[in-house]
Amino acid sequence: MPPRKKEYGIKRASGSLVHFRPPVSATTVRRHSAVVPSVLTFAVIVASGGLLLMIEKGMLNSVQTPPPRANGKKVEYRLRNSDAAVDVESQIVQEIRNRTIKSMCGQKNMPHSVWSLSPLQRKTLLQHILVNDKHHFLYCYVPKVACSNWKRVLKVLSGTLANVDVKVKMDHRADLVFLSDFPPEEIRHRLRHYFKFTFVREPMARLLSAYRNKFGEIEAYQRKYGAEIIRRYRKGYAKDKKIAGNDVTFTEFVRYLLDEDPERMNEHWMPIYNLCQPCAIEYDFIGSYERLESDAAYVLEHVGAPQHVSFPERQTWYKPVTKETLHYYLCTVPQKFLKELLPKYILDFSLFGYPLPNTTTEYCRH
Ligand SMILES: *[C@@H]1O[C@H](CO)[C@@H](O)[C@H](O)[C@H]1NC(C)=O
Ligand SMILES: *[C@@H]1O[C@H](CO)[C@@H](O)[C@H](O)[C@H]1NC(C)=O
Repeated sequence: MPPRKKEYGIKRASGSLVHFRPPVSATTVRRHSAVVPSVLTFAVIVASGGLLLMIEKGMLNSVQTPPPRANGKKVEYRLRNSDAAVDVESQIVQEIRNRTIKSMCGQKNMPHSVWSLSPLQRKTLLQHILVNDKHHFLYCYVPKVACSNWKRVLKVLSGTLANVDVKVKMDHRADLVFLSDFPPEEIRHRLRHYFKFTFVREPMARLLSAYRNKFGEIEAYQRKYGAEIIRRYRKGYAKDKKIAGNDVTFTEFVRYLLDEDPERMNEHWMPIYNLCQPCAIEYDFIGSYERLESDAAYVLEHVGAPQHVSFPERQTWYKPVTKETLHYYLCTVPQKFLKELLPKYILDFSLFGYPLPNTTTEYCRH
């Protein structure tokens, strides 16, 4: 179970806040050097457990967050022009994640192995880890973080799919091997000897993506979750039996999340922490959705995938969550709900090095 607020080591944190200095603007200094100090400064805050304290005190409103990792366009540009820059940035992100995970997972109440998890936590985790015995790797899949494409890659690697671009509807169970399919000894062996990786994404962008996809497009979700959410949170609908559930607002969705137990949530909005347990499993690589192309290429090379297997291109129907869309939706949610929501996903922000979103009234006025 994730620790309660008071167990984050807030005492230690207050001392380290002194080290904070405003980051160098990425636009005024050459990117190479700019990204290093600001991102590391942020890491110091996160690693010391100060992030939660800062939320509680509302301090983040007055602090500048470092520039986020490059968006897809920039990565593409640099991939062609300077592989070195990509490598440096990726390396920094990996190091920050390693450091924050080490320091936060070192706290007393954090799990240190798969076997110290509760049965429910372990079940969730093992059911989210896909196994490839030929290339000796384990992949913890996170819905809304390119997991369908990774599943395609796994099927191609195991020979059950001809190539990653085959136009078939993704079957999320067939032809895939889950770690939960194995007895404990076999699980232990694979955890010890295989290359373990996962991919993460900015937590609010992931939530928004789940919201837009499930409540905007999938009727089964509208009926199952949408109708329930409207009954619970929309005035005058508590007893309504005929709700389509296809017009849930983002605020209603957020209120629903606030009332849900992270350990029992639907996997599309369950925190990544609960799905992949980065304290219980020492991942060798934690890739970013924000730099999917290069991080995926790195993994494929690392596990020795044959040349012809490459990560699929984005689907043409894919609707990206842009900065503007995220700004728009987050700003429709009343502050008091966001203030409760962020702590619920705080481990996803802090362990993976994502700055908290700016949700101040000034910001939302634009
Ligand atoms: C991060 O930690 C993992 C697991 O211990 C290790 O395999 C990896 O090399 C580390 N990466 C960096 C950049 O330090
Ligand atoms: C949030 O945005 C506002 C308006 O753009 C800005 O003045 C403020 O400094 C920002 N705060 C953070 C923490 O980035």
